[in-house]
This record gives sequence, structure tokens and C-alpha cells, in this order.
Amino acid sequence: MGRLDGKVAIITGAAMGMGALEAKMFAKEGARVVATDLQEEKLKEVVGEINEKGGKAIAVKHDVASEAGWKEVVKQAVDAFGKVNVLVNNAGIVIQKNAEQITLDEWNKLMDINLTGNFLGIKYVIPEMRKAGGGSIINISSVSGIIGIGGAAYNASKGGNRTLTKNVAVDFAKDNIRVNSVHPGVIATTMTQSILADKEQKAYLESITPLPRLGKPEDIANGVLFLASDESSFMTGSELVIDGGLLAK
Ligand SMILES: NC(=O)c1ccc[n+]([C@@H]2O[C@H](COP(=O)([O-])OP(=O)(O)OC[C@H]3O[C@@H](n4cnc5c(N)ncnc54)[C@H](O)[C@@H]3O)[C@@H](O)[C@H]2O)c1
Repeated sequence: MGRLDGKVAIITGAAMGMGALEAKMFAKEGARVVATDLQEEKLKEVVGEINEKGGKAIAVKHDVASEAGWKEVVKQAVDAFGKVNVLVNNAGIVIQKNAEQITLDEWNKLMDINLTGNFLGIKYVIPEMRKAGGGSIINISSVSGIIGIGGAAYNASKGGNRTLTKNVAVDFAKDNIRVNSVHPGVIATTMTQSILADKEQKAYLESITPLPRLGKPEDIANGVLFLASDESSFMTGSELVIDGGLLAK
């Protein structure tokens, strides 16, 4: 018995990093996976691996900032697998600039992907989740959604995700649609590669993380899997912090 048997899950940003691992873990636990990303070739590799191992997944090239793109993703999910039960709003970018340095174009681009993209995903899966009798939406925020590290636009987008989560959780609880946010600390992925390659920055990030290591994608994917499954069926509007103790300090 898989922990996600019978469920259909859309995961954005699934070509690499945490999204790719979540797609593989979800499929292993019985979900049929709609993996989406801008990077088509890498995405097809992830989906190819899932299907070779006996899982069920499709790849959809998708810009999360595009409303038409979201309509197409939801349509393809329903055409392929008949319904949508889970959405993981994972795709995101980081721009490590403060409010004085960041340009308006950079600000708008980041917001379109990290915040508007998540709103659009929520908007277009809700009717399908209602038809399916409920669902679970997981918004990948960050410790930067709670405290002021990470960059001005990044902080604002991740804080927006945190309270958007609570708004949607309250409004759609009656439809049995659960919405929770996940707040990773520092996780070694492509996103943090250049930051962690800088010895000083790495030492700083280690110094603010009480556990004696930085995070791995599986640390986050395990939490996301729990929120996607019925094991978390009484959780909505909550914040799952997975940060090695960073926020506790
Ligand atoms: N790595 C960390 O330390 C960390 C910490 C906290 C939160 N997060 C968040 O976790 C999520 C995943 O991060 P990651 O570290 O795996 O990043 P990553 O850079 O390894 O992967 C992000 C994926 O998102 C995709 N993507 C980017 N823009 C897109 C768009 N417009 N449309 C569709 N796909 C797009 C990329 O192609 C990539 O495959 C992000 O939302 C990130 O902000 C990461």
C-alpha cells in the first residue's frame, strides 16, 4: 500500500531540486504525477525514470507565471488521469538583492513566478479538487516567509505565500480542500549552489543552523509527502518548518 495510492498530484518545478525528488517519491507511494517545469529536457528525464520504474507520470512544459499555461496543465492532468487531488506549488526563483538594489523588472519577475504562479495554480485546481471531494495544496514558502533573510522580493513573495495559504485554507475548508505551507531552511540544491560555493556565505548559513548540517531535498520532500497524504487530514492553514532549527535560534 502506497501512502498516496489513488491520488493524482501536480508538482511544479519538477525538473530538478526538491520538485524532482518529490515527483519520484510521490510516484513511488502510488500517486499518478503531473510533473511540470520550464526545463523540458530535464523534466522528461525525471518522468522517464518514474515510468521506467513502474510509476505513472506525465511531463508538461509549463511557465507557472502563465495563466493559459495553468489552464493547460489542469486540463492535461484531467485528460490523462481523470482528476486532481494534490497540488505542490514548488517552482521558484531567488534574487538575493535588497530593496535598494533590486530593479522593478526583477521584482515583478520574481513575484510573477513565486507568488502569482502559486495563486494561479490554486485558482485552477480548486474546481477539480471540489469535484474530487477535496484535496491538498502545498505551497513551498521558506524561512524567508517568516524572517527577513533571502532578498527583498524573495522575502515578500514567500511571506505572501504564507498568508495566501491561510486565506485559501479558511475559504475552502468547507470543500475539504486543505492548504498548508512548507518553510525550508537552507537546502543544498541548484538554487543554493552558488551561495554555498562561497565559503563565507556557507559558514554563515551553517552558523545560523543549530543542527550540525545543512538540509537535503529529502528533508523537505518527506514533509511535503506527509502533507499530500491523508495522514495530515486534520491539518490546514498550518506552517511546516523544516530548517534544522534556524528559526528557533
Ligand atoms: N534550496 C533552498 O535552500 C530553499 C530554501 C527555502 C525554500 N526553497 C524553495 O523551494 C522551492 C524549490 O527550490 P529548489 O531549491 O529545489 O530550486 P531549484 O532551482 O533546484 O529548482 C527550481 C525549479 O523550478 C523551475 N522553475 C523556475 N522558474 C519556473 C517557472 N517560471 N515555471 C516553471 N518552473 C520554473 C526550475 O526550472 C527548476 O527546475 C522554491 O520555491 C524555493 O524558493 C528553497
